[in-house]
Amino acid sequence: MPSSTAQVATTRPSRYIKQLISHLGPKTAADLARDGRGTITIGQGTCVLTPSGDHLGMIATARDFEALASVQDIVTRHLLRFATQEDLDVDWTAPVMGDSTQIIDPVVSDYLLTHCTPADDLLQELVIETRQATGGASEMQISQDEGAFLTMLVQMVGAHRAVEVGVFTGYSSICIARGLPSGGRLLACDVSDEWTSIARRYWERAGVADRIDLKIAPAIETLRALPAEPAIDIAFIDADKVNYPAYYEEIVQRLRPGGLVVLDNVFLGGRVLDPAYQEEHHLAMRRLNDLMVDDDRVDSVMLPVRDGVTLARRR
Ligand SMILES: C[S@@+](CC[C@H](N)C(=O)[O-])C[C@H]1O[C@@H](n2cnc3c(N)ncnc32)[C@H](O)[C@@H]1O
Repeated sequence: MPSSTAQVATTRPSRYIKQLISHLGPKTAADLARDGRGTITIGQGTCVLTPSGDHLGMIATARDFEALASVQDIVTRHLLRFATQEDLDVDWTAPVMGDSTQIIDPVVSDYLLTHCTPADDLLQELVIETRQATGGASEMQISQDEGAFLTMLVQMVGAHRAVEVGVFTGYSSICIARGLPSGGRLLACDVSDEWTSIARRYWERAGVADRIDLKIAPAIETLRALPAEPAIDIAFIDADKVNYPAYYEEIVQRLRPGGLVVLDNVFLGGRVLDPAYQEEHHLAMRRLNDLMVDDDRVDSVMLPVRDGVTLARRR
């Protein structure tokens, strides 16, 4: 799907969004969200409008280039018509194909990667073996900076009891287990014997196998079988996205005050921002991201780390 963005400098972004919604609303599907964002569907395309302090952000996505040009044209013409008191410069980026957005400029991302605690030889070996053994699936592995971040979070929370949903070949579980004190436990949940057999070998070599309990079963069953008391200090969710809301709910009930749940891939390659994506996992992640804002059991923050990481801390 082609998409294009425009950042329009203005002091009245919210006003323009409301005008566009009320003007185009009767002829198209248009919606104004509680947070001030507007969504307008025009033919085979959509424009999401986000108000910011000094600009109006717009993302247009459409089925093909022709439909994209039509969305850009209609939104731009109406916007310029409403801007009677200022000259707006509406400069759309060249359309890009593809269904994922880089949250961070790849150059910045590279700089971040090279400016955190490096992965040791064992983790580097695990990355290589995962690539050889699993091919394209190896992209599921968390990155080195996320791994360093996880270890640090475990240490900062002073965690003794950790839970991981989504082990794969064990990179994140090694990072979590390394942050635990002696006597600490990590409950690691996955459904794949094949992938976790690689993890088990690396846990042994990392010297953390004795603190990890691996449960091969649908994670929701493992979580529901846990005692109800709030005994979890930290949890990392990085498995099937459609079940994120259920994982979050089971975990947050069992988090001790001050405990942390860490959710990976909350941006879904930018698709959570784009209402054109309506598959079950897009809807589930969107719903969860919205729900957490209003969840008075936690304080939460969404970070532009890799594909988006949310930290929610139990009050
Ligand atoms: C993104 S990978 C995890 C990557 C891992 N955190 C790492 O650092 O390498 C997702 C994992 O979730 C597992 N998974 C998928 N559906 C699951 C389910 N219903 N219950 C438990 N695990 C599941 C997959 O087998 C896969 O290993």
